[in-house]
Amino acid sequence: MEIIVLSDPAAVGRHAARLIADVLGRRPDPVLGVATGSSPQATYSELAALVREGLDLSRATAFALDEYVGLDPAHPEAYRSVIHRDVTVPLRMDPARVHVPDGAAVDLRAACMQYEEAIEAAGGIDVQLLGIGANGHIGFNEPGSSLGSRTRVKTLAPRTRRDNARFFGGDAGAVPVHCLTQGIGTILRARSVLLVATGESKAAAVAAMAEGPLGAFCPASALQLHERATVVVDEAAASLLGDREYYDFARDNAPGGALDFD
Ligand code: F6R
Repeated sequence: MEIIVLSDPAAVGRHAARLIADVLGRRPDPVLGVATGSSPQATYSELAALVREGLDLSRATAFALDEYVGLDPAHPEAYRSVIHRDVTVPLRMDPARVHVPDGAAVDLRAACMQYEEAIEAAGGIDVQLLGIGANGHIGFNEPGSSLGSRTRVKTLAPRTRRDNARFFGGDAGAVPVHCLTQGIGTILRARSVLLVATGESKAAAVAAMAEGPLGAFCPASALQLHERATVVVDEAAASLLGDREYYDFARDNAPGGALDFD
């Protein structure tokens, strides 16, 4: 795991966007895994700037990590809407190539299997962008999730519903109870993963992910198993990391990024 600590959220967004653009720009039909929530916003803004400067993502495919169950797909906070607004439009992607799990499907299990098949059919994900929950979740794989899990229905943790209440007028009760999420096993199959985290509220989760034991109670710790995992955090999110001296030394003496897989 390569850990890059930068000064502030804007620097995190700039660096993450450059890493993603570098991977996508080298592939004729790149496949990007996208996250929702606050963490990737700066990355998407920076990527949108690169698109305006000439980065062409019109042939790129995208797969979202997760979707709420039981929310009208047209609801502004349904991840289908969020991804359209934050990713498809600003990155000038072809909407037909942007996929979000179908949380409105009658047969949710079948929808999950089809989602896994669609990722496979696209050739797998080149770079998966991730945020991290304050409880250590990635996607909506809450603590206790199987480290080998694939796309499936999950129940959100009460803490996640409270954390996401800000998107639902401050009402945790309005946050759906269930979701579809790529599994941890699905995420680990991406050819590279890039996790961004900013702010003090993520510091404990970031430290547990990077320096704690590998285990289902910190789902993000599964990234310790990934051969090309990059974590870009700001000073606040890095504040509980123990080995800053090494991370900064390694950042300043990098032999080539972990996303450099060609
Ligand atoms: C979102 C997702 C979640 C979020 C996490 C952090 O698609 O899968 O894992 O990345 O809950 O959310 P924010 O960035 O809003 O703090």
